Parts: sequence; C-alpha cells; structure tokens
Amino acid sequence: MFNVGHGAVNTAVRLAAMLFCFGLILQALSNAADPYRCGALVRHGSWPPYTPPKINPAADYEQLETLQRQGRDPPPARPFDKWEPAGCRMHEYSREDIRACLGGKRVLFVGDSTVRVLFFAALTRLEHEAAEWLLRTTFIERNPRHDLAIDSETVQLQFIWDPWLNSTTFLEEMNHFEPGNSKDADPADKPDLVIIGSAGLWAARNEADNLYFDTFCASTARVARVMGDAVQPFGKQKTDNYVFLAPVQIPRYELLLPGRAESLSPERIARMNNYLGSLPPAVQSHIMTAYNDMTYHVPEAYEDTGLHVADTVAERWIDIPLNARCNGMLLERPASEQPVPSMSHSTTCCCRPSFFC
Ligand SMILES: *[C@@H]1O[C@H](CO)[C@@H](O)[C@H](O)[C@H]1NC(C)=O
Repeated sequence: MFNVGHGAVNTAVRLAAMLFCFGLILQALSNAADPYRCGALVRHGSWPPYTPPKINPAADYEQLETLQRQGRDPPPARPFDKWEPAGCRMHEYSREDIRACLGGKRVLFVGDSTVRVLFFAALTRLEHEAAEWLLRTTFIERNPRHDLAIDSETVQLQFIWDPWLNSTTFLEEMNHFEPGNSKDADPADKPDLVIIGSAGLWAARNEADNLYFDTFCASTARVARVMGDAVQPFGKQKTDNYVFLAPVQIPRYELLLPGRAESLSPERIARMNNYLGSLPPAVQSHIMTAYNDMTYHVPEAYEDTGLHVADTVAERWIDIPLNARCNGMLLERPASEQPVPSMSHSTTCCCRPSFFC
C-alpha cells in the first residue's frame, strides 16, 4: 500500500520535473528566436485593463452640465498612455531621449495620411509649436498630399507622400539598404530610421478584386527586400537596418463611408495581413503588427473617419520604432549618463543584456 503511494508520488514528481524542464526548453527556444526582445516589441501587446468613466454623456446630460457650470472638465477620453508589449517593457521617449539618439540624424516616413500622423507624432514630441504650425500650413493648402521636411531639435524629419511605395525618391532611399550595399547610394545619405506605411488600404480602395492583392504584394516586396536581417538592438556589432513597416490598418468598419466600406472589406484586409504574417521571421521582425493590436476593437482609438487613429494612439505608435532604434543606444551609455533610470537591461524591449551589473 505504502509502496504504491510512494511510487505514485515519485511518478508525479518526475512528471512535474519533466514538465518544468519542458517549459524551460520552450522558453529558451522562444528566447533564442528573439533573444533581445526586438520581435516582442513590434509583434503584440495590450493596453492595461480599463474601466470607462461613470458619466455617460447621453444618460447623464445634467451631470455634464453641472460640471461645465462649475468650470470643471468632463471625464477624460480613454487614456492611451501605457502600452504593454507581450514579453517586455516599452519606454516612452521624451524629447531629450530622442535628441540623444537621433540628433543630427535623419528619420524618414513614407506612405499616405496614416503615416503622416506618425510624422506629426514625432514632431509633436520634439517641438509642439512647430508641429502645430506645420499642421496648419499643410492643411490650408488645396492639396495637402505632398512631401514634408523639417529639422527639429537637430533631428531631420522627412515625410514622402507615396501611398503605393513606388516613387523614384522612395526607391532611391531603399537602395541605401540593399544587401551588399549598392553602387550609387552614398552611405552618408542613409536615413537612420525609416517608417513605412503599407499600401494595403490604397490597393483595396483603388484596385479591382482580382488586382488589389497582387498590387499589395508587389509593393510589399519592394520593402521586404531590405528586411533580410532580423532587427537587432543598436550596438557595437552595428546593424543599421532600421526600416519598419506598418501593417494594413484594420479600420473601424462601422464608421466607414458606404463606398469605402465595400472596398475595405474585412476579408480583403485580413487576406493582406495574413500575407504579411506568412513572410519569413526576419522580415516580420520589421513589421509592427502591434499597431493593429492597439486599435482593433478599441473604438476610442479611432478618429471619425474610421481609418485614422487618435493622436494619443499615434503617440504610442511612434514609441515602437523609437524603442527599436534607440533602446540599445541609450542603455549602452555609462550609468552616470543614463538619462532614463526606468529602463533596464533585463526587462526593456530590444536591448542586449548587461554583463556588468
Ligand atoms: C505607382 O502605382 C500606382 C498603382 O499601381 C500607379 O497608378 C502609379 O502610376 C505608379 N507610379 C509610379 C511612379 O510608377
């Protein structure tokens, strides 16, 4: 009797030990695929749990009026101030952090108005007034669909209007990143960070059922060809391929205008994003699928068009490529110069472990 029980306990202990080892191996394997958590940063994440404020503008009109009479603010919109990537911590970049990392360097944005939102998010972080001024002057024009460039806090920000990703200017920029480097691109002109919007929504809107997918794949290929090496933290073994692609934005479907809703169907968007998800792992380490995690099924994340995201969401969007490009650099500085004590080698996304602490 006792023996049998002992045997059972033994078996259970062994089983538990095996499961534990198996778990460790699994974890090691996943770490091996993404040892510096650069992949974790771009791939998935979530907002912390959120309870909406009690006041409902329709039901509690009187309460709102009372607040207004007393000169108090109505309840705030949903805050998007903290994003939690799955498996690491993201740093919120301040003006000083951006300047420390990208001062004297060039950041390039390429795409349509959804990418222009990111350009303005970066500029706002650096210099609020300049961003407001440039926004006003851009949207006063009859055709705001054009390139933009501004120097702010010594960082050169540049936006190329190119929704199809086929302009000569853009293709020349991509030549800088050609594997084995290209003959006619001067390395000194190479941008230090590139953020590209996928052509998916334009393809779906403007091309027929039998064409949109091919157009999308062709535009993706023009970008993916420079993404052969997985994203690594910036460091001494210098990788300088910081080119990032936003996925096809999943719209807030119920807000789309009828004409748009037809062409931007959930089937088309899903087919294109699934295609991005089928690309090789190294390429995927450049694709910021977390962007869709930030907005999908989060109504407050969108503007009225159902396509553009709220400024508060764009602020977290821009933090993702900044973390990928800059965390390694900021953390490599001596501890005494460390501007951001909240960052840590062991938990922050996209950095190398420190052997000295
Ligand atoms: C880019 O692609 C679009 C859609 O296929 C096409 O209409 C446009 O002419 C192309 N532009 C260039 C410069 O090739």
